Amino acid sequence: MRTKGGHSAVGLHYKSHQIIDGKPKLEGLPASFPGEEACQTLILTCEDPELKLEAELLYTVFEKEDIITRSVRIVNRNTEDIYLTRVYSACIDMDARDYELLTLHGSWARERQIERRKIGFGKQSVDSVKGESSHQEHPFIAWMSPETTQTQGEVYAMHFVYSGNFHAQIEKTQFESIRAIMGINDEDFCWKLGKDEAFTAPEVVLTYSAQGLGTMTRHLHDFYREHMIRSKYTHCKRPILINNWEATYFDFDTEKLLAIAKRASELGIEMLVMDDGWFGHRNDDATSLGDWFVNEKKITGGLKHLVDEVNKLGLKFGIWMEPEMISPDSELYRAHPDWAIAIPGRTPVLSRNQYVLDLSRKEVRDYVYDAISKILHSANIEYVKWDMNRQLTDIGSAALPADRQGELYHRYVLGVYELQERLITEFPDLLLENCSGGGARFDPGMLYYSPQIWCSDDTDAVERLKIQEGTALMYPLSAIGAHISVCPNHTVGRNTPFETRGNVTLAGTFGYELDITKIPQEDQEMIPKQVEMYHKYSDLVREGDYYRIASYRENHEFDCYMVTSKDRKEALVTFVQVIGRPNFHSRCVRLQGLNPDWNYRIEGTDGTFGGDALMNAGLMVESLWGDAQSRLYHLIAEV
Ligand code: DGJ
Repeated sequence: MRTKGGHSAVGLHYKSHQIIDGKPKLEGLPASFPGEEACQTLILTCEDPELKLEAELLYTVFEKEDIITRSVRIVNRNTEDIYLTRVYSACIDMDARDYELLTLHGSWARERQIERRKIGFGKQSVDSVKGESSHQEHPFIAWMSPETTQTQGEVYAMHFVYSGNFHAQIEKTQFESIRAIMGINDEDFCWKLGKDEAFTAPEVVLTYSAQGLGTMTRHLHDFYREHMIRSKYTHCKRPILINNWEATYFDFDTEKLLAIAKRASELGIEMLVMDDGWFGHRNDDATSLGDWFVNEKKITGGLKHLVDEVNKLGLKFGIWMEPEMISPDSELYRAHPDWAIAIPGRTPVLSRNQYVLDLSRKEVRDYVYDAISKILHSANIEYVKWDMNRQLTDIGSAALPADRQGELYHRYVLGVYELQERLITEFPDLLLENCSGGGARFDPGMLYYSPQIWCSDDTDAVERLKIQEGTALMYPLSAIGAHISVCPNHTVGRNTPFETRGNVTLAGTFGYELDITKIPQEDQEMIPKQVEMYHKYSDLVREGDYYRIASYRENHEFDCYMVTSKDRKEALVTFVQVIGRPNFHSRCVRLQGLNPDWNYRIEGTDGTFGGDALMNAGLMVESLWGDAQSRLYHLIAEV
């Protein structure tokens, strides 16, 4: 904080409190909502009488999911302006035990890798100053007793409902206590607050589990499904899509897309998604972002014609857009060079040959929104993939005064939220999938607008095991965008069986990303079986309780997880043998989440086993020959 006099001291003291039914909305921000469950909110008002600054601390309790949310609203009651230089959203102090810290790190094609380490004295943090939640670090921290596993141990966690710069820190102090904080990163943050103006800091989701990480995960999954994702698709089967990105990259036209759509419809796929390259004169990543009009040289006959033809084949149609960006080679940039985020006098850094639009400006947001809306009105488009392919740099807005430049990062995120809110309000039936160069903006904030988010550009089945394990630590499988692609895999060059690619993709939204007309005949023939598998298990995977049984990340040999229906009458176990082991004939995996008193039949076999036996002795996995081999076991309770 800075006053006009340049001072930074602030002393907030209790002023009043109230407990209200329900949960107030956070203006302009994504936030959890009560849903079916009644909840109450404690509003604690603190005040600095010298500064006439008020801070409202909002705590909402979600009893069923063992979750408390916390956000902060700062109000300036002074006649003088105040500059907020740091507003974190939550802080927890507790006695330090021998805790370990769990964080998620990553990179493009390697998002959300789980890491655990001992918490030493001093401060340990993860953050982002990339303008988005980022590939590199995730706005989540958990701290736990060292013996904590999936099934035992105490875990505390914080998850930030925000899609921009964040800071999450844990500190072990001189008095051997722990202080955990989370909020908007204060780097380059400075928010001017005039008289009676308010600033709302985004929400943090706080949770605790006394039964290990697995319980934490299931609490978060339930919480996000019931209290964060608003889409009508949350509890609905999503159409199986085929996306042309890895199939064609920029090299496509109407004819190619229709050939893919035709074969896809024959095999039971339900939607064609046209990815990057359909607008302006975009044949590579160097041009046309911002020029959202159809390139009729490629899309001969126009967009409506293409969509109608795809619909005639019995498929829905979806489209890719990257609304937040501007290419220097675009009509938009030539008309409005000042719409790009840049610092006067400096040439901004290009990344993927593009700049970022200054979404803090209303006229820019209106242009972007009109462009999206026009496209969506021009044809029967039922799905949008909203991409964002670079991080923010050269933080400067041509429209903000000098003392508000420090607001740009946050105003940008608010601009994204406003645009997506307008979109889903005008098109309530639209299925929106967020994406950011793979999974760089996979966060609870984006889930408020889209029920699913593209998880990673890495579609290799083995890499996906680790990426999806980290993602599913917090997010329900129904939110995780996953596609089957070709081999050798375009990112890592690895070959895996088509069947395993399908089984791994089942733990997500399920789709294809390949040229279906070119893949081997036997793979094409497997697609109807995979489609059937998806329809059979989709409700279970989307709505069920997720249990992590074994982790390839930890054991370097095999991966295993399962989903159990809420009534425990059905479960699906996925086992992947990543590396075959010589002279090793069977492996037992101890299941979880079954009813110990019931017997379960394993579909496709004569085997019936007690739930207690499957959980204590384990399920015997048949001997598999080769690397990246997988099996699904469908368990049905005999009750
Ligand atoms: C990044 C996305 O993650 C990909 O799926 C694809 O849409 C490309 N962008 C297109 O440019």
